[in-house]
Amino acid sequence: MSHAEDHAGTRRDFLYYATAGAGAVAAGAAVWPLVNQMNASADVRALASIFVDVSGVAVGTQLTVKWRGKPVFIRRRTPQEIEAARAVQLTELVDAKGENANKPDADASDANRTLDEAGEWLVMLGVCTHLGCVPLGDGAGDFGGWFCPCHGSHYDTAGRIRKGPAPRNLDVPVAQFTDANTIKLG
Ligand code: FES
Repeated sequence: MSHAEDHAGTRRDFLYYATAGAGAVAAGAAVWPLVNQMNASADVRALASIFVDVSGVAVGTQLTVKWRGKPVFIRRRTPQEIEAARAVQLTELVDAKGENANKPDADASDANRTLDEAGEWLVMLGVCTHLGCVPLGDGAGDFGGWFCPCHGSHYDTAGRIRKGPAPRNLDVPVAQFTDANTIKLG
């Protein structure tokens, strides 16, 4: 075998493996959602809880974690954000319901949406209630909270919808502090 043929053979092998590899990746992607759903029964998935270390979250910043396949925003609010949210009257809200899984019957007052009494910690699903985009945070939008650029929904510093097509406040999931540095979701 000449050197040139040897080289061509290597090249063919390489192409063959690359093609086979690409096929395997495509098949894997198609199969994954099914396998993922079969990993746990619906009951087990519904109960799945996670513990989040929030010791590194500084005032005025937000941690986003993935829980049950969705982003969850954990924000440590500034005194200004708390004050702005607490100054809002329920009559000013598009949605005066709480959307808080911890307090199903409570209204959307700021105190009813936050995790701690001081109102420093706000935990919400990072899913726009319009069509499900992930809103931008860190003071985004006309109300200094979150803004969904998909169709222009503005949420205030308590994650309540104030302007735009979204019909509901951002959902507050079941959450609690289990110690000073840990929030349990679910
Ligand atoms: S999905 Fe957020 S505004 Fe439409």
